[in-house]
Amino acid sequence: MPRTPDDVVIGPLDLSARVDEALAVQAIAFGLGAEEVAVRRQIVLRHMNYPGARALGATTVDGRLAGFVYGMPNDRTHWWSTVVEPYLRAQGYDDWLDSSFVITELHVHPAYQNRGIGRGLITAITDAAAQPRSILSAIDTDSPARGLYHSLGYVDLARRVVFPSAPKPYAVMGAPLPLRRR
Ligand SMILES: CC(C)(COP(=O)(O)OP(=O)(O)OC[C@H]1O[C@@H](n2cnc3c(N)ncnc32)[C@H](O)[C@@H]1OP(=O)(O)O)[C@@H](O)C(=O)NCCC(=O)NCCS
Repeated sequence: MPRTPDDVVIGPLDLSARVDEALAVQAIAFGLGAEEVAVRRQIVLRHMNYPGARALGATTVDGRLAGFVYGMPNDRTHWWSTVVEPYLRAQGYDDWLDSSFVITELHVHPAYQNRGIGRGLITAITDAAAQPRSILSAIDTDSPARGLYHSLGYVDLARRVVFPSAPKPYAVMGAPLPLRRR
């Protein structure tokens, strides 16, 4: 299994069993309140029953979760896909919704960021995808996440995408697989 310089091991994660640990990482990395965590918990558990859904975790030597990623083959009937479809269609990019592996969440605990763990997680999960490309959405700003995605070969397919109930607009990004290596 891949190892990062800090001896954090990336490997399969039983996300349904470890959903509370994962959401604790997401809450501190991304900034979620208790109510949002409760909502996300139900969503994550539902997502893990979708066909082809997979999760990887980055685990420390003492067994703590330092980060995680999960995703699934895109399905145009899924909520995320129905929200982004008109934005992609307007740009002529809605074919990216077919034969794509969606990265649904990627989060690394702040104490472990900037050590290659996020890069390792997303590269490992997409390397195991049968699809020829990957799509995701990220808050539409110059963030470390967007910097990482650009460096992996993701390009902007749509900007200023508004998800109901999300306060900030998102960018939808897509990359050919396998992701670009440094
Ligand atoms: C995005 C995130 C998962 C990246 O994880 P990470 O383990 O810190 O990332 P890595 O160390 O593997 O990669 C760092 C890369 O991010 C980018 N990056 C980091 N800090 C950056 C910054 N301030 N500005 C721009 N890009 C930055 C760089 O491309 C960097 O690549 P490098 O190794 O060539 O320097 C992590 O920052 C995080 O959890 N952020 C909060 C939650 C979040 O935004 N999740 C994504 C939701 S879409």
